[in-house]
Amino acid sequence: MAEVVITSKEEAARLTADLFERLVREKPNAVFGVATGSTPEGVYRELAARRAQHLLADFSRVRAFALDEYVGLPVEHPESYHSVIERQWTRPLGLHPEQVAVPPAVITADDNPESYETRIDAAGGIDIQLVGIGSNGHIGFNEPGSSLASRTRLKTLSRQTRIDNARFFGTLDEVPRYCVTQGLGTILEARRIVLLAFGVSKARALANALEGPVTSSVPASVVQFHPHVTALVDDAAASLLANQDYYREAWQERPPSRRILFDGITLTAPPRRRGF
Ligand code: PGA
Repeated sequence: MAEVVITSKEEAARLTADLFERLVREKPNAVFGVATGSTPEGVYRELAARRAQHLLADFSRVRAFALDEYVGLPVEHPESYHSVIERQWTRPLGLHPEQVAVPPAVITADDNPESYETRIDAAGGIDIQLVGIGSNGHIGFNEPGSSLASRTRLKTLSRQTRIDNARFFGTLDEVPRYCVTQGLGTILEARRIVLLAFGVSKARALANALEGPVTSSVPASVVQFHPHVTALVDDAAASLLANQDYYREAWQERPPSRRILFDGITLTAPPRRRGF
């Protein structure tokens, strides 16, 4: 069962930034899994603000891997995830582009999307994976029906995802139809997962993912197989959670000094296992 923290979007960003800093202090060459979309933006802004005020831990040796990328969009396009990650993560944190990897935006007959995973493995695996959730229950771009054991691969985007993401483009037609995404099996190999969800449009998907049956029809439900997941969600996203009173009490009853994510857990310790 994931730990569920119901809080404001701003506090969620601060708690996640605190967690990232704690990891970097434990492990200066930590490996982050970074997500795109509106959901994680507050976390990236919080980290950038801390760095601008010279308050941030030393991130100079961290590495990061993005979850997914559109296929068919030039990498220079402002909405390619190469561009978004560069703008929101790499540049504000003062990182060298070689410290940050994004899945390939173009797939040719010679490309093997799974080779992205060789790079993740070579970096020692992902320490903390940040994920959002789609209104259709996807994580990464693993659309409903994705194998719970899937690996990094080419996928077709669902119509719902293309409609949801049309706000970043001019029209629905401009939203790419294909993507490369880390698989659900890949995501499960991260040592910790932080799932963020804000707004009522995520309420149904979140309740299904955290409290419903584990099913490929709700790809995010696969996180129930992971031993170290924290979901940070606002009131609106939490509104359909059956156990929301319990989650609120569990968090509020902790002394303020212990309201930290993965309290009491060494962030880097356990060995990684493949899949679940
Ligand atoms: P959003 O997307 O953050 O733009 O809402 C989340 C997701 O689709 O994973």
